[in-house]
Amino acid sequence: MKCKITMGFLCRGDDLAIDKAMISDIKNSVNIVDIIGEVVELTKSGRHYLGLCPFHQEKTPSFNVIEDKQFYHCFGCGKSGDVFKFLEEYHQISFLESVKILGERAGFTISSQSLGEQTQKKHPHHLIFELNKDAAKFYHAVLMTTTVGQKAKEYLYDRGLTDELIAYFNLGLAPDENNYLFQSISSKYEEKELTSSGLFNISESNQLYDAFRNRIMFPLTDDSGNYIGFSGRIWTNDEFSQNQAKYKNTRTTPFFNKSYELFHLDKAKAVIKKTNEVYVMEGFMDVIAAYRSGIKNAVASMGTALTVDHVRHLKKFAKKVILTYDGDSAGQEAITKALDLLSDLTVEIVKMPQQLDPDEFVQKYSEQELVRLLEQSRISSIEFLMQFYMPTNSDNLQAEISYVDQMAQLIAKEKSLTAQNTYIYKLAEKLPDFDYLQVEQVVNNYRLSKRSEKSNTSLRVSSVNQEIQKVGHTTGLLKAENQLFHRLLHHEHLLNSFRNRDDFRFETRELQFLYSILKDKGELTTLDLAQVTDSQRQAYYQVLEENLPDEIAEHEIEDIEERRNFYLKEQDLKKQSQYIRESSNQGDVESALSALEALIEQKRHME
Ligand code: CTP
Ligand code: MN
Repeated sequence: MKCKITMGFLCRGDDLAIDKAMISDIKNSVNIVDIIGEVVELTKSGRHYLGLCPFHQEKTPSFNVIEDKQFYHCFGCGKSGDVFKFLEEYHQISFLESVKILGERAGFTISSQSLGEQTQKKHPHHLIFELNKDAAKFYHAVLMTTTVGQKAKEYLYDRGLTDELIAYFNLGLAPDENNYLFQSISSKYEEKELTSSGLFNISESNQLYDAFRNRIMFPLTDDSGNYIGFSGRIWTNDEFSQNQAKYKNTRTTPFFNKSYELFHLDKAKAVIKKTNEVYVMEGFMDVIAAYRSGIKNAVASMGTALTVDHVRHLKKFAKKVILTYDGDSAGQEAITKALDLLSDLTVEIVKMPQQLDPDEFVQKYSEQELVRLLEQSRISSIEFLMQFYMPTNSDNLQAEISYVDQMAQLIAKEKSLTAQNTYIYKLAEKLPDFDYLQVEQVVNNYRLSKRSEKSNTSLRVSSVNQEIQKVGHTTGLLKAENQLFHRLLHHEHLLNSFRNRDDFRFETRELQFLYSILKDKGELTTLDLAQVTDSQRQAYYQVLEENLPDEIAEHEIEDIEERRNFYLKEQDLKKQSQYIRESSNQGDVESALSALEALIEQKRHME
């Protein structure tokens, strides 16, 4: 066996597996950003953290810490490694010393002996795991074999559980007594383990007593199946219970970190690996509801707060996360927060209807309905955010504008153009004041600004108002109409001939309004302009900005009109395709088909 590490225990074949596990446990329990952040000033830059490299002299930062992958890399001197490597290099210590420093910091007990001569056969938390497992056995026995357990089981049956499910999740009952667990297992363990397990509290008279009383017990395991803690739920209706927190968890210990652990991950991980997907739910009962419906790759973040550590944990097993948080507002709010953290995983969302959680949903409908919902009603994160941020008051144009702006940024980031177009269409469909082209313009602008960000010229996008106009300025139709208006404004004979065309209208709303004044009066005075709306005035000045020579060139007007007609037709086609999509979405195949026929005919004409 090849091994660069010279100190005993890591190299001994027998022990290697368990020690590897310990090392990875230590690594998992710290965040490289925190560790390096203590000695290097780091600032967040996109998905990475950036600072001045501690390993070579530099004035501009090229030292990157990549949080999701938990390593560092310096583009200046080329040094890179994980958190242990960093400590080795930074403090000029050995690998094992760095393991020891971090291990102790994370609450692992590592004696210098265990690093040296003596063989450390077991995980340092081995005894705590055993203790928790014994406790789980005890609680399970109380549930399955006592009279009060029978009542608690009936509570669980009422909630749709079976003995099979109770056994699979190894549920139990903490008796409504002071120290039954203590009496049952204390003789097997030292006081040190008993106190650090989190299962007991110390009374004023220095006695240990059970931390959990009269609760249904959900054992919590790490992803290797080690028993690390419990969550207990109240189940009786007495006043005392009703005044307690619904769930009570083992306090945070060196081996139980609620921000990293995910309920059911140990058992779900095989299915997660196979399907490449994991459902992330809020609660225990939700995961159980999914499981009994046949969905075996669900885990719970044990509450709404998904953390960076959870995400890091999920990434070890899954590429795709399906967020299935409660349908209430807290759950939906939590999805938006989780989406930020999950940005480099594929994410889909199941929106639970009627404020239900998955458990309530199964109870109200059926297991089959839940499966259908989980598998067939997923939406993308953009779709979710579109629904979530949709302004409630459709009269508030300003709110709509900033909503479009916000969504356009997201849409522009979407990789597939087809998907971008679908979202643009969907967004326009939601908003009475925006059509496809207008939304597309805003998205276009972010597409542009994204490109120019890449080439390092910073284009600050301020307000969507200005952007619509800036981009609008460059769209073909508006350009043609501006030029035409410019000519009409300054060439009376042209205006006169247009006056005879009763059916002529400007497509641009503002220009049409100004044109109606111009037609009546033959001019637009300062006073007229003082009385129009802001956007109409802006439209007027945009026309003036058209850089046209005084004289109208030969065929100039025909050219402008030809261009304008082309764009009008194009717009019309887009509207028709939009209509076709709409009708076929709504199942109106008949109208969709006939509209499609007309569209094909028209396209043929244009070619
Ligand atoms: N939770 C917790 N501590 C609490 C409350 C909740 O750890 N005091 C966690 C539990 O994992 C719980 C999850 O957050 O399952 C979601 O909480 P909640 O939605 O309030 O409960 P439900 O999962 O709906 O629980 P139940 O169906 O049993 O009422
Ligand atoms: Mn519930």
